[in-house]
Amino acid sequence: MRVLVVDDNVAIHADYAKILAPLMPMADPDALDRPALERPASGLVSAVRNPGTSPSYEMVSAFQGRQALGCVDEAVRAGNPFALAFVDMRMPPGWDGLETIEHLWALDPALQVVICSALSDYDWHDVLERLGHPNNLLVINQPFDAIEVLQSANALTGKWHIERQLQRHLARLEDTVKLRTLNLDEKDLQLNEQTRLRRLAEADLALAQKLEAVGRLAAGIAHEINTPIQYISDSVHFLGTAFDELLAVVAAAQAECAVAPRFLGDLGFLRDEVPLAIERTIEGTQRVATIVRAMKDFAHPDASEMAASDVNRAIETTLLIALNEYKYVATVDLVCEPLPLVVCNIGELSQVFLNLIVNSAHALADAGRDTVTGRITIRTRRNGDSVELDFGDNGCGMPQSVMDRIYDPFFTTKEVGRGSGQGLAIARSIVVDKYAGRISATSTPDVGTRFSICLPIVAGSASTA
Ligand SMILES: Nc1ncnc2c1ncn2[C@@H]1O[C@H](COP(=O)(O)OP(=O)(O)O)[C@@H](O)[C@H]1O
Ligand SMILES: [Mg+2]
Repeated sequence: MRVLVVDDNVAIHADYAKILAPLMPMADPDALDRPALERPASGLVSAVRNPGTSPSYEMVSAFQGRQALGCVDEAVRAGNPFALAFVDMRMPPGWDGLETIEHLWALDPALQVVICSALSDYDWHDVLERLGHPNNLLVINQPFDAIEVLQSANALTGKWHIERQLQRHLARLEDTVKLRTLNLDEKDLQLNEQTRLRRLAEADLALAQKLEAVGRLAAGIAHEINTPIQYISDSVHFLGTAFDELLAVVAAAQAECAVAPRFLGDLGFLRDEVPLAIERTIEGTQRVATIVRAMKDFAHPDASEMAASDVNRAIETTLLIALNEYKYVATVDLVCEPLPLVVCNIGELSQVFLNLIVNSAHALADAGRDTVTGRITIRTRRNGDSVELDFGDNGCGMPQSVMDRIYDPFFTTKEVGRGSGQGLAIARSIVVDKYAGRISATSTPDVGTRFSICLPIVAGSASTA
């Protein structure tokens, strides 16, 4: 244990050495005779107490406050600090004891200090208040008894040792806590991310369930709409024929009875306009019937089974269903080559087509396209044992950084409500994982995007559609 003795009285150092290290020779007794102010800044190691007795002390001498500060500084830097300093109160011409202690504690607050004073003109309460650290300070009066010095050294170095161990233990504990906290923080982040993904998945599941319910209802609704459309259509046809017959009757009556023209009113106008109105009505009901049929196709319960399916027809149906998504931003350019029937779950595949078409519609809207400038280009062709389906658009396109992530579940560049980031993840999982097909994309910002799908026509089940 290292002890520093700070006293301007050279003779006193020998007294301390006798008490603290009685069995060891003085390291440099001659040095003690030199004038006090010429001592080296690092102090003098004057004696070491017999290491066999416990505790053993290494005593270092300083004769002025500044010199003591140098010793403490050096010891702290070397990682070999003093446990205890005996400090004299009056050490002319330099700092007095209090100033010295203040400086020492500024460097090493753990240092234990014994003030040795022959003077009683101090108010010790004031001194303690001024110095702080009252627990690290003892006061003994000079001339001191050997036992006072030895016992205060034993007690304070013992205390210093225990405090130091405690400090180390606390530091280790703090490190452990920090590490645990770090681990917890990391776990917390992971948990937050999982919670976020779960929320998205839940929202998506709710939407999927809603869509499924809408799909199931759609088949029924289509049937309900079909019936009145059928009799509206029949009735309009009947009205058309009836009107023609009526015109013929009127014409005959006119020839026969020479009816005055004023009784016939604006017959010419009716003769021109009524057939047109009937034609428009028939055309309208036909369109409603087509859309209803597409809806029925799209939502058909059989569409969820593996079967030899007409992919071209599924694309046409999906285009009809999605009409409202793209009708203001694109004209569709659809070229379907005859394809063999593909064994697949056509409902699932239609979902893929729908995702691609809706994405194109969004990209076209983002690029500010309209029906004149916007294009959705769809091509289908057979290539050996596969069919190839291309979905292109001249929308906003995407940079490579987006391309790299398009198949990631929940990756989206769209605001909440417009995109959920699931479309392409689902498309990829259906095409690649379910049908062992391929899906790939090429895209150029501000020019457009093209998705290519390649689907195997399961061998043996293909025939020309
Ligand atoms: N045709 C396209 N043109 C431009 N960007 C596209 C196109 N298709 C997909 N993307 C980009 O890929 C992202 C992921 O698409 P998707 O998985 O369908 O999720 P969502 O449409 O819900 O955002 C989109 O947010 C968009 O940034
Ligand atoms: Mg999408």
